[in-house]
Amino acid sequence: MNDKTNAGLFERAQRVIPGGVNSPVRAFRAVGGTPRFIARAQGAYLWDAQGQRYVDYIGSWGPMILGHGHPAVLEAVTKAAADGLSFGAPTEREIELAEAIIALVPGLEQAAMSAIRLARGATGRNRLIKFEGCYHGHADALLVKAGSGLATFGNPTSAGVPPEVVQHTIVLPYNDVAALEAAFSEHARELACVMVEPIAGNMNFVRASVPFMTRLRELCTAHGALLVFDEVMSGFRVALGGAQSVYARLIPGFAPDMSVFGKVIGGGMPLAAFGGSRAVMSQLAPLGPVYQAGTLSGNPVATACGLATLHEIAKPGFFDALSSRTRGLVDGLLEAAREAEIPLSGDSEGGMFGFFFHDSLPQNYGTVMSTDKDRFNRFFHGMLERGVYLAPALYEAGFVSAAHSADDIAFTLEAARQSLRTLRG
Ligand SMILES: Cc1ncc(COP(=O)(O)O)c(C=O)c1O
Repeated sequence: MNDKTNAGLFERAQRVIPGGVNSPVRAFRAVGGTPRFIARAQGAYLWDAQGQRYVDYIGSWGPMILGHGHPAVLEAVTKAAADGLSFGAPTEREIELAEAIIALVPGLEQAAMSAIRLARGATGRNRLIKFEGCYHGHADALLVKAGSGLATFGNPTSAGVPPEVVQHTIVLPYNDVAALEAAFSEHARELACVMVEPIAGNMNFVRASVPFMTRLRELCTAHGALLVFDEVMSGFRVALGGAQSVYARLIPGFAPDMSVFGKVIGGGMPLAAFGGSRAVMSQLAPLGPVYQAGTLSGNPVATACGLATLHEIAKPGFFDALSSRTRGLVDGLLEAAREAEIPLSGDSEGGMFGFFFHDSLPQNYGTVMSTDKDRFNRFFHGMLERGVYLAPALYEAGFVSAAHSADDIAFTLEAARQSLRTLRG
């Protein structure tokens, strides 16, 4: 009962929590082995229940962009907590957070929370397009995989989701302009929105190509469908202005119609927001007919945490330093793989990165899932044994924080050289 090893805790957890975890990827099923039960974290490190230290490249799946326990964030959270944990009433800090997000993401005029309902309410249409390999949370209508054949609608990926709930969701391959055009030519007049992870972090790390994004914008504009950027992962992570600022640099005049944020805006506490033009956002209750609500929405401690985090990452030079450290990590991994004569490709933007046991960068989910899983799993465990905690599945992205030092990257690359050597043959 009092076994404090990872294995002991996992066994105990499985008696009272389905699969022993509260979010599936934590169970290590993709890579095998025993999940690490984390006891504490500081800066770039996690320590498990057995006292083993790991350099953390998950960063709570993105939010911990400053590293763990950043003093300014802790101070803001402690102060806010002392003033009350939740009120269920408006606070000034919500305004400050909305103002901060709007200031950093050009094109947003109002920020609030339920993007698809709003897109449907604002357009008076029902259908939506999503892309294979993009994840948008566990809402029923989005737990969908492609049906058989282009013209069919999606099938639920989860038991408990009635087929009728996903009948309006069309699932297309990512980065496939022809499939996009075909779907628009058939369904354009019924399309409320197209939802996309512009730089996808749920099929490892895959960028939407510029021609694909350009065509997507053109088609949405031409047919009155809203282009919804899911920047829950990429927002304030790949750049201060999110992935939309990256595409705005590449495509003149580019902007999505709506954007969804999470992760970094809460700085590690539960918080999400979505935003768009004033015209779209004014359709939302209490101004308009589209309902949304939440008892803990705009929570004072979470908003304090998010604000303190945004304040730190907006300091001059923050993203340049984070980007070059992350790029250094990926370049080092690629170099180590070349030395070991193992095919590896990798990419990064800001503080988010990915690598594949594959000779080129995959452009879609099918290719990601066809990369060398056995090598990935052995590499993952090799790194874990050497004190480096990577995401425990080949379809997840990696995250570097401002707390990762040059020494941490060097330590990681030495672990990678050793692990890669064991993968040969
Ligand atoms: C792009 C994207 N959208 C939405 C979500 C859902 O966020 P949450 O797990 O906080 O509901 C995630 C979670 O990883 C995500 O990566």
